[in-house]
Amino acid sequence: MEGKKISESRVIIAQVMNPENSNPAGNVHGGDIMKLIDTVGGVAATRHARAHVVTASIDRIDFHHPVYVGDFIILKASVNFVGKTSMEVGVRVEAENPITGKVRHTGSAYLTFVALDDNKRPIQLTPLILETDQDRHRNEDAAQRRQMRLSVKKKEKENA
Ligand SMILES: CC(C)(COP(=O)(O)OP(=O)(O)OC[C@H]1O[C@@H](n2cnc3c(N)ncnc32)[C@H](O)[C@@H]1OP(=O)(O)O)[C@@H](O)C(=O)NCCC(=O)NCCS
Repeated sequence: MEGKKISESRVIIAQVMNPENSNPAGNVHGGDIMKLIDTVGGVAATRHARAHVVTASIDRIDFHHPVYVGDFIILKASVNFVGKTSMEVGVRVEAENPITGKVRHTGSAYLTFVALDDNKRPIQLTPLILETDQDRHRNEDAAQRRQMRLSVKKKEKENA
């Protein structure tokens, strides 16, 4: 089976954060950022699979710093790991002050997507081609997170 490079599915989007994105404290609402994370992650996963994908889980979202109304929010998504039918996508969230150009790393997330066929059954994915040291490093970390995810799921099943 032919593989696909991480660079072939990588996604970067930028969006202006407007007043309608704000929470009562005046910062950008975390839920708006979460939706963008899921959307951009889904685009990277779909590009890898070239099939419809669903979000199976989001096992971690960290908000390191607030994003302010008026900032550009920049989301970078790349496929870290591909299993048989599921893949982990990492999303990095940055906020850029449009006037000063200063960029802050405000958040990150790891999501698992599953590719489905027309009957909504998981389909086998094309393998991931790792080109750079960063690709290999992220892939190893993602493999460890997958092991953790699977063992938690197994334990939950046993205790159900
Ligand atoms: C995700 C879903 C397709 C998995 O179906 P399933 O019958 O459990 O499928 P399987 O047990 O064969 O698992 C398929 C793959 O998904 C992975 N997976 C399943 N549930 C998972 C979870 N909660 N977290 C991470 N990975 C998961 C499995 O490890 C497996 O990966 P692999 O093939 O790479 O080894 C199914 O649970 C589903 O449709 N969920 C709803 C998705 C949805 O509506 N999302 C929100 C809107 S997009």
